[in-house]
Amino acid sequence: MDSSNNNTHDTAGQASRRDFLLLTAGAMGAIGGCAAIVPFVSSMNPSADVLSQSSVDVDIANVKPGDSLTVMWRGKPVFIRRRTDEEVKSVRDISLKTLKDPQTDEERTKVPEWLVVVGICTHLGCIPTVRKSMDPMEDGWLCACHGSKYDASGRILQGPAPRNLDVPVYTFINNNKAIRIGESA
Ligand code: FES
Repeated sequence: MDSSNNNTHDTAGQASRRDFLLLTAGAMGAIGGCAAIVPFVSSMNPSADVLSQSSVDVDIANVKPGDSLTVMWRGKPVFIRRRTDEEVKSVRDISLKTLKDPQTDEERTKVPEWLVVVGICTHLGCIPTVRKSMDPMEDGWLCACHGSKYDASGRILQGPAPRNLDVPVYTFINNNKAIRIGESA
């Protein structure tokens, strides 16, 4: 009997067993990896709680002209302001050439009397406070942190804020008696 032949067979046999074991181990590792990834990816899907907070309905039936309210949406304050005719006129009379972030009031609102903006200063994230005066030109918001002044359209007029207050997606519901923030029509 040719022992070198046997050795060749043994070596080939050992190699194929080793290949088999390596392939099996690799396959098990891949399956284990997938099994570990599935729960990880699932955990990245938004929970029912998070989904329920993705939009918020706000009753506006009792908000009087000139009044504002603040609601929380996705952890951020949102200002809703029922503007007077004078406020609407004053913001619509402002020349876009004078604005740092030129945007018409019409682009920022769905109906003239209602303004909806995210109440976070676009400079460094402070929360501006309402400015209300006898002069509708002075109405809007002031950020006390560094003095950014926004008009009654939420547009930056003065100060270090680089851009206007953000307008979230929203739609009117219940015959315009409520606003749903977080969903467009
Ligand atoms: Fe509002 Fe700086 S954070 S002006």
